[in-house]
Amino acid sequence: MSSNWFFRVVSAALCCVATLPANAQNPLLIPDTLVGPNIQLNVAAGTMNYFPGLTTPTLGYNGNILGPTLLLNTGDSVTFHVTNQLNTATTVHWHGFHVAPEHDGGPHQLIAPNTTWSPGFKIRNRASTLWYHPHGEGKTELQVTRGLAGFAIVRDAQEAAFALPRKYGVDDFPIVLQSKAVDVLGQFAIATHEDSIMLVNGTLNPYLNVPQQVVRFRLLNGSADRTYWLGLSDNADFSLIASDGGLLSAPLVTNRVRLSPGERAEILVSFASSTIGDSLDMISYASELPHGIIGADTVGLGANLIGEGYYTNPLNGQDFRVLRLHVAAPTSNPILAIPAAFDPVIPIDTNAVDEHRHLHFAADTAGFGEVALVDGPFHINAQPFNMDSINIRTQLNHKEIWTLTNATRVAHPFHIHDIQFFVLDINGNPPPPQYAGWKDVILVMPEDTVRFVAVFDDFANDSIPYMYHCHLLHHEDDGMMGQFLVMNPATGASDAVHNSVEWTLFPNPATDEIQLLWKGNSMRQAKLQILDSQGKIVLNQSFPANGTVNIDGLSAGIYLLKVSTREGVSVKKFLKR
Ligand code: C2O
Ligand code: CU
Repeated sequence: MSSNWFFRVVSAALCCVATLPANAQNPLLIPDTLVGPNIQLNVAAGTMNYFPGLTTPTLGYNGNILGPTLLLNTGDSVTFHVTNQLNTATTVHWHGFHVAPEHDGGPHQLIAPNTTWSPGFKIRNRASTLWYHPHGEGKTELQVTRGLAGFAIVRDAQEAAFALPRKYGVDDFPIVLQSKAVDVLGQFAIATHEDSIMLVNGTLNPYLNVPQQVVRFRLLNGSADRTYWLGLSDNADFSLIASDGGLLSAPLVTNRVRLSPGERAEILVSFASSTIGDSLDMISYASELPHGIIGADTVGLGANLIGEGYYTNPLNGQDFRVLRLHVAAPTSNPILAIPAAFDPVIPIDTNAVDEHRHLHFAADTAGFGEVALVDGPFHINAQPFNMDSINIRTQLNHKEIWTLTNATRVAHPFHIHDIQFFVLDINGNPPPPQYAGWKDVILVMPEDTVRFVAVFDDFANDSIPYMYHCHLLHHEDDGMMGQFLVMNPATGASDAVHNSVEWTLFPNPATDEIQLLWKGNSMRQAKLQILDSQGKIVLNQSFPANGTVNIDGLSAGIYLLKVSTREGVSVKKFLKR
């Protein structure tokens, strides 16, 4: 097939580039910055020119690809205005942010074409490197791969107390790693294993001039499914200083850092004793990645079950350059030393745990046979994602231990919204030091058991859920995702009570009226509310005896219909045309 032929040509070319590092010719794009209290993001289509004679259609926030870096301070109140100029719906999820569920930007907060979504919230995270990206049902991989992703840098007084590089674009650099598959027309393709083109900050074959001093790299894996194993070409040590949720207790001296999709790591590299004019490379040492991780030479057990494109992709199992670094003159007042320690990170203790939960990752081998063990579809607790069903209800301030087990043959980076967690153990052993800080993504290897502890504080909403899912975007889109509610103990109901309220609504979508059907007497004296997708109550009445609810006055969109009885609260979603 001609498209395969093209891939081989591109792949072969890239393979040579990877082994001839002199060929890095494009300055690394450093995204612009935006600060609050009002931040406007326009989501629009654009184009990039990566390949001679081909124009690559892209998506971007306020530009052709990626988005501005948001510079935020803990405690600031910020209002975002996200205007969707695409001809399809999108969402903006604030990955890693501790925000109320109606502001979270998951699949329940769809932004229709030509509309503006304006969530406003206070920044509650510690100083950390966070990011934002679309999260529409079934659309995440497509929209992220086409270019929608941006950084957010949160700063606070605690971090500011240490002598760290923090001049954005000068000694403090955002670095988003994204491997892409490109089709014959130069378009980014999804759901292939042929992502043989490396883009860093949307730049092909990038180089960066780094000052002759200590430099901070804020690394983000924004790839659909590839994991990186990063180091320097001279194998020199560097210092890992922060994980997803902020600074570690102390810099961890190492020469490799693993980054699975969705994860962040901040590293400090000292060029203070390098010579101006020297060059070196940031490399992904993928030949050292263990079996089972996408990006390693093999996944699966025994037979190579994953799609053929995987094994012809030159990035898999091969060391390749990510970014060329040229040492340049130091800046004034350079940082020359790496702090010995930061403030100790106090993990959440495991006293008085309110709930233990078990999330099991398995493949749908009944429907798809053995090939599903590496290529999916994968589900959590055998339940494919369903917008209308809540998988977990916790309560405000509950402390929970979640146990993740992986019965598939591929590693899955598990991500949960709302909170940052602490990894307790991996197969019964304490986590390695790089995972001992605040995390919101953790890679779960085949056959592994990972336990974490988290507290669901600050935000309760008994109708709008948060997501948890695999951050391999194709797995997420394919239903390896669930949703949880953080219930308010005063008004919310437990899982058991919730399930006793049985009712249904039709038609859905509806235009002027909704009809409710229910069992028994459960609805007598019930209260009925309709909430819009931002959680605003647009209708509040007692339960209609004839079951008919007039929705003529609502504008088109997605709504939640919430029924509260003495036994509890139950919510269903409908679409108003
Ligand atoms: Cu980065 Cu639910 O996503
Ligand atoms: Cu997965």
